[in-house]
Amino acid sequence: MNHADTIVVRVVAIEQVTPQIKHFTLAPAAGGNFPAFSGGSHIIVVMRGVNRIHRNPYSLMSSPGQLETYEVSVRRMEQSRGGSHFMHDQVQVGNELEIAHPVNLFPLDKIARKHLLIAGGIGITPFMAQLADLRTAGVPYELHYATRSPEHCAFGGLLSEREPGRVQKYYDCTGELIDFEGLLSNQPLGTHVYVCGPAPMIEKVVATARERGWPDSHIHWEQFSAPPVGDAFDVYLARSSLKVHVVPDQSLLESIEAAGVEVPYLCRGGVCGFCRTKVVEVDGTLVHNDHFLSDEEKASGKTIMPCVSRARCSKLVLDL
Ligand code: FES
Repeated sequence: MNHADTIVVRVVAIEQVTPQIKHFTLAPAAGGNFPAFSGGSHIIVVMRGVNRIHRNPYSLMSSPGQLETYEVSVRRMEQSRGGSHFMHDQVQVGNELEIAHPVNLFPLDKIARKHLLIAGGIGITPFMAQLADLRTAGVPYELHYATRSPEHCAFGGLLSEREPGRVQKYYDCTGELIDFEGLLSNQPLGTHVYVCGPAPMIEKVVATARERGWPDSHIHWEQFSAPPVGDAFDVYLARSSLKVHVVPDQSLLESIEAAGVEVPYLCRGGVCGFCRTKVVEVDGTLVHNDHFLSDEEKASGKTIMPCVSRARCSKLVLDL
């Protein structure tokens, strides 16, 4: 994908929906409509800071049926490397940003007999667009949505209004927990489960579904990882004859891009596999943080996903 081909957008509304989550409404700066998308799609928002460019993936949560605007929600991350703080602290109504075209790595299965949606916290966002698709699809569905408290339940009121009888909310503060075993044991044949939320929730749902005999093709999850902070190191780009210094709070991909070398990407969250890069040499350890490579591939040390992974080494040479 050519990410040079971005769309310039204007921020037309910002709403603080929970103490940590802001909701942004974007319109094409040039007027007209945005490209079509389906529920589960994400966009990459390009944020040009003073010293650094941030490119973060956010799920589209507006209805795929209305393309005058796109909507995304951003949770302020305490451990942010800059992107979520930029969106929360610097972006104002009227500002212009760039976005990449929507990509869907978390689509609804078209032949599912029923859709079981499970969300935790900010993981509700892809489901907001999927629910808009499901309301007209004529296939049974239900949403189970866990948050810390009613105050942290983003779009809880809207969901109850739009989806009467189809949404069940759970609040940690009152000790309500989703009964994953019960839910995944009592579904009609042909049901697909979708989960988006914190890593432990995703792991629990996937593990429980597999234990209950659900085929992998019926289990869907989305978990974009934010690139973690790590030690600084140098990377040598063999084909470009460049040496790049990777500082602790910048990802390997961001550092390579800042040096003017393009690497293909779709998710920037360790999921899609597009940024897969061949390792020529490493004098130390690769720190794999992606959800794409198999354990064997990670152990082989031959490839790395630079969007989220890095190295603890004195020398890393990549085939770029
Ligand atoms: S861009 Fe998707 S895994 Fe790196």
